[in-house]
Amino acid sequence: MKTMKAIVFNEVKNFDSLKLQDFPYPAPGPGEATVAIRAAALNRRDIWIIRGMYPGIVVPIIPGSDGAGVVEEVGQGVDKKWLGKEVIINPGLDWGENPRVQQNRFRILGMPDHGAQAEYVKAPAANLFPKPAHLSFPQAAAIPLGGVTGYRALFTQGQLDSGHTVLLTGIGGGVAALMLKMALAVKARVLVTSGDPAKIEAALKIGAGGGANYREADWDKQILSQAGEAGVDLIVDSAGGEGFDKLISIVKPGGRVVFFGATAGNPSTLNLRKIFWKQITVQGATMGSPTDFAQMVRLFDEYKIEPIIDGPYPFEEYRQVYQRMIDGKQFGKLVMEW
Ligand SMILES: NC(=O)c1ccc[n+]([C@@H]2O[C@H](COP(=O)([O-])OP(=O)(O)OC[C@H]3O[C@@H](n4cnc5c(N)ncnc54)[C@H](OP(=O)(O)O)[C@@H]3O)[C@@H](O)[C@H]2O)c1
Repeated sequence: MKTMKAIVFNEVKNFDSLKLQDFPYPAPGPGEATVAIRAAALNRRDIWIIRGMYPGIVVPIIPGSDGAGVVEEVGQGVDKKWLGKEVIINPGLDWGENPRVQQNRFRILGMPDHGAQAEYVKAPAANLFPKPAHLSFPQAAAIPLGGVTGYRALFTQGQLDSGHTVLLTGIGGGVAALMLKMALAVKARVLVTSGDPAKIEAALKIGAGGGANYREADWDKQILSQAGEAGVDLIVDSAGGEGFDKLISIVKPGGRVVFFGATAGNPSTLNLRKIFWKQITVQGATMGSPTDFAQMVRLFDEYKIEPIIDGPYPFEEYRQVYQRMIDGKQFGKLVMEW
């Protein structure tokens, strides 16, 4: 049996069971392609899975929703022109026909289907996209899941336009760092929050117009004063928690608060009166449709956007890389390469 090296999570809630080991090579089925992975990225989702905090966990599983590489083999019915092509993989499987929401069968590469933190991964050929030529493999691996999530939050749901002011919370996060680049590309004004002053500094260097530390009690007032009279048109959040209610106060009347995560849990209070009186849209978002993915890749191509990456680290250092995300030390997407 042909085998490959892969990071394998072997036992639920046991970080020590995550091993770099031999695993069967994923031969492509009909309509599928197998990609030789050059680089793969980490998402918070991988940590939720290891902690047993994700629905429907199956083990053993190769984690990883983000991969970039070269097409090695194609299955029955797939155009052979893909062979040898440099690609990134849309990790959203079976979104369905409705652009507004994914169907029940929707899944994400890396659970329950084996993911990209391996020498090879298989995926439907329809999920392959040519790697933007200006990006290295590690840069390209940084964009699929975070890019499509950030694109849908900013543009499809958030309706961001040039000249708008957008607040991105927790800018050290993988998705947030991608959104910073996308929002700046379309000439929006970007304000950020972070729990780490060094990450705010880094965001300002990249082009953010202001920032505040969410660990300081008056961070909301700091953001409001930086926003000035124009106010904040859009907030994109994935932390939730106690800070979420402040977002309702910060966003301007008629504005939007889009969120796609709850890293800090549920807020204990939510000021409903402010939401209806200010006529705010509070909008959930999750990854994106195939159209969102295609438009995200086009945006990266058109504006030659380079994602912020933390790494790349050798795959062999996977334990330190996972620990870096657990400790929240990263700025940008954590990427591993072979
Ligand atoms: N629904 C979806 O499809 C989808 C897709 C992607 C991600 N998500 C979810 O979205 C969240 C972010 O994902 P990610 O991959 O970008 O994670 P990540 O790279 O681990 O980023 C998490 C960031 O959250 C920030 N943070 C933590 N506590 C905060 C607080 N109280 N207020 C503001 N920010 C806070 C931190 O920013 P600083 O370091 O700057 O302090 C941290 O770096 C996760 O919960 C993830 O599960 C959902």
